[in-house]
Order: sequence, then structure tokens, then C-alpha cells
Amino acid sequence: MAKQGTKSSLHRQSKSITGKVGLLAKKSLKPQQTRQIIRRFHILQKNKHAILSRLESLQLANGKRDNYDELKKGKTYKTAFAEFKLPSKNAENEIYKIDSSQTICDLINSIAKIDAEIQQRGGIERYQSASTQGQNSNRGGDSSKKLLEWLRSDKYQSKLTNVNALEIGSLSPQNVISTSGVFSPVVRIDLNSQDPLIIEQDFMERPLPQNESEKFNLISCSLVLNFVPSHEERGQMLIRITKFLKKPDKTQLPLSCLFLVLPLPCVSNSRYFDNEQLLKVMKSLGFTQSFYHEAKKVAYWLFDWDGKVKRAKYAKKQLHSGPTRNNFCITL
Ligand SMILES: C[S@@+](CC[C@H](N)C(=O)[O-])C[C@H]1O[C@@H](n2cnc3c(N)ncnc32)[C@H](O)[C@@H]1O
Repeated sequence: MAKQGTKSSLHRQSKSITGKVGLLAKKSLKPQQTRQIIRRFHILQKNKHAILSRLESLQLANGKRDNYDELKKGKTYKTAFAEFKLPSKNAENEIYKIDSSQTICDLINSIAKIDAEIQQRGGIERYQSASTQGQNSNRGGDSSKKLLEWLRSDKYQSKLTNVNALEIGSLSPQNVISTSGVFSPVVRIDLNSQDPLIIEQDFMERPLPQNESEKFNLISCSLVLNFVPSHEERGQMLIRITKFLKKPDKTQLPLSCLFLVLPLPCVSNSRYFDNEQLLKVMKSLGFTQSFYHEAKKVAYWLFDWDGKVKRAKYAKKQLHSGPTRNNFCITL
């Protein structure tokens, strides 16, 4: 397996030495199961991120800060991790809430339980497998089919010579981005590579390009931003993406695009976000929407990049009310 960079502590986890993780990952899943796995995994990631942030501020106030690897070596973590048992099928899942009465020890305890739950549920491999299988039932297969359909339109057809692509969050080298023959090369990265042709790398730790030849004509970021646990980090990921795109040059008409895919509820049912807000955020980073498609559960965008990143600020503000809304947001 190709390896580059390191996984961020947030996503890093141990694999089962019994090899169970791999077996679980391959099992065929029903659509409802894939949704449950993906949803629970996102909740756990989000809770863990919030608990780690709270822990960091408590530790800073106490003048002593352990990094995540040190924390995992401590007795509190090890005991809670070893003792955690997944709830039986019909029992309620554990809720990992933060409240102001919690001590450092309580927080470490929760982190250990979340890590143990992720591992016992099959780890990131099972989440990826659910995502791959979910592609068929939820959105008619590989999302990059939509990308190629758009790129083959009159608007882009003439720009498709000598173009390369970076796929962030790649589950397979067999998707349409890779097999269309349009891009050469296609650089595929993922936090957890499932194929020797996918580099195991955190995009946030990928070394910045030193010159234009190390940049890309197209970046694909399909169902990745919603995996990133906080609104600030999602914004940072978008800013970072601009550093990897080739500067558009009007005389030679090169391609400089971002293909973005998000679960539809991120823009259709969030308290803090919608499509209008996304377009404002994107505009401030130099992106203009050229295509948009809304499927039943997923939304797709193709953005052109003009190379001009402004320093606009977008904070988390309530835009819509209602008890059944989610809290998805992207801030700059
Ligand atoms: C839901 S899967 C989607 C994969 C695929 N792009 C698709 O559209 O089906 C999200 C993937 O993004 C990867 N990912 C999340 N954050 C990442 C990061 N910072 N760098 C690289 N990969 C990341 C995860 O490991 C996971 O495999």
C-alpha cells in the first residue's frame, strides 16, 4: 500500500489484530444498514472532535497538554477502551455528551469509549465499505459519472487536453474519473487506502505544491467535507483546495475546477447552512458554480476557479429554524 503523510489523530485507529475488521468490511449490507453505519460513524467522529477540543482547553488551563498518542497510553484510556462493549442490537447507542461538570478523566474515558465503539463496529474500513455499497442504493452509483457528463458538455469539451486530477477521499481506482481516460495522471488519496493505487494520505497534511506543475486541473471532493468533523475544518479544507488548483490563464483556457458532492440535507435541511450560503462561501474563495444537480439524497456541483481568494469571513449563524434540522455548516 502506498503511504504518504500521516493520518490525523482524529481519524487514526488501530486495526483488529484478529483481522475481523477486514472480514466485516467485505460483508454485503442492506441499504438501511449502510445508512445506519454511515450515520453512527459521523456522529462518533463529531462527538470525538468536540470532546477532544474540550479536553484540550481543560488541559491548557491546567498547564499540561498530552497529545492523542500519549493520552492513549494512559491507564484511564486503556481501561475504558478494554471494558467497552457494543450495545446489543436493539439497545440504545451510547450518547457521548459534553457538560461543564466533566473532568479531564471523564473526557478521556469518553474518547476511549468512542474509539472502542468505532473499532468494534469495524473501523473506518466498514464505514468506507458502507459508503461504497451505499453509492448504488442511494445515488445510482459512482458520483464521478455526473462530473464526466458535465465535462463532456460544450462548455468544457475543448479544455480537456493535458489535464490532471486529484481525487480526495478515493475509494476505488475503477471509478469514472480514473477510467474515462480524460485525466492523466489521476492522483488518488484517502485517509485509509483500500487499493495500492490509492495513496494513504490526509489531504490536510499533503505537502503544498511548490510550482504549477504540481497542481491540478480538477479536484474531486465527493462526500468528504461532510466527513470532516467541524465547520472550521471544512472551511480550511476548501481554502487548502485552492492551493492545489492550477491558476486559470484566460489566454490558454486551462481547466481549473472543483467537483463537490455533499449529502443533500447539508444544504436542504441545515439550521446553519444552505445552497445560497455555500455559493457565498465558494465565491469568496474564487469559485463560481457552473453546474449543479440535485439527486434524491445527494447534491453535486462543478465550480470554476478564478484564482482570486478573498479573505471574507463567514461565521456560524442560524439561517433556518425547526426541530428536525441538522447542524451542518462550513465557516471561513
Ligand atoms: C463517504 S467516503 C466517500 C468516498 C468517495 N469519494 C465517494 O464519493 O463515494 C469519504 C472518504 O473520504 C476520506 N477522507 C475524509 N477526510 C479525508 C482527508 N482529510 N484526506 C483524505 N481522505 C479523506 C475518508 O477516509 C473516506 O474514505
